Amino acid sequence: MALSATQTVRQLATEIPNATRIFEKLGIDYCCGGGKSLEAACVQARIPVTDVLRTLEEGSASVQGAALPDFSQSPLHELASYIVARHHGYVKQEIPRLEKLLVKVVSVHGRNHTELVAIQKVFAALGAELTSHMMKEEMVLFPYIAQMEKAHESGKVPPRAPFGTVGNPVHMMELEHESSGNALKELCSLTSNYTPPQDACFSYNTLFAALKDFETDLHQHIHLENNILFPRAIALEQQAA
Ligand SMILES: [Fe+2]
Ligand SMILES: [Fe+2]
Repeated sequence: MALSATQTVRQLATEIPNATRIFEKLGIDYCCGGGKSLEAACVQARIPVTDVLRTLEEGSASVQGAALPDFSQSPLHELASYIVARHHGYVKQEIPRLEKLLVKVVSVHGRNHTELVAIQKVFAALGAELTSHMMKEEMVLFPYIAQMEKAHESGKVPPRAPFGTVGNPVHMMELEHESSGNALKELCSLTSNYTPPQDACFSYNTLFAALKDFETDLHQHIHLENNILFPRAIALEQQAA
């Protein structure tokens, strides 16, 4: 496909192989800010748009490493199951591990590095928010999307949703993604982009590396929901109406 700076980040992230990896590396917001044009996103990230277009072209020409599965056509229930297994599973595993690590690092280094206490507080709030957010997706929104898809496939009328249209919970989930995205930005700034100080011990280094991985995973997770699953669910509902 021909690349253009006027295309949205969302469009490029879903259509160009490896684009999300490239955006992640360059600090371009491709999850909550996916609706912006590439040009506007580059202004925000302070990167020349021509450099990004060139990197995207090179990236799509030579797909390296394990590219993400292409979910643009696959059944929605498969995408939802993938998100739950891969991303919700990871978040549920990492929250208690990182909270424990934070307790340890704060107890040793908190006096000399007071920002650690703020990092602990922001991460605790993010963890609580994500736990309740994922539960809503797993218990309400994702099962409804699967039911709607099943009804559509068998030519039946989709079940009545207690929340009106699917756009309502989607909107709520997107607002919560934005809030989580803001917490990630705060963590990135408090950790100086996850750079440990000179006197950091092994646990300190491990913590910052794990927080960076947590950020990357959450960006990818939100991208799959905001840019693929949710727009496709809304389109399916409109098609059935
Ligand atoms: Fe999710
Ligand atoms: Fe979500």
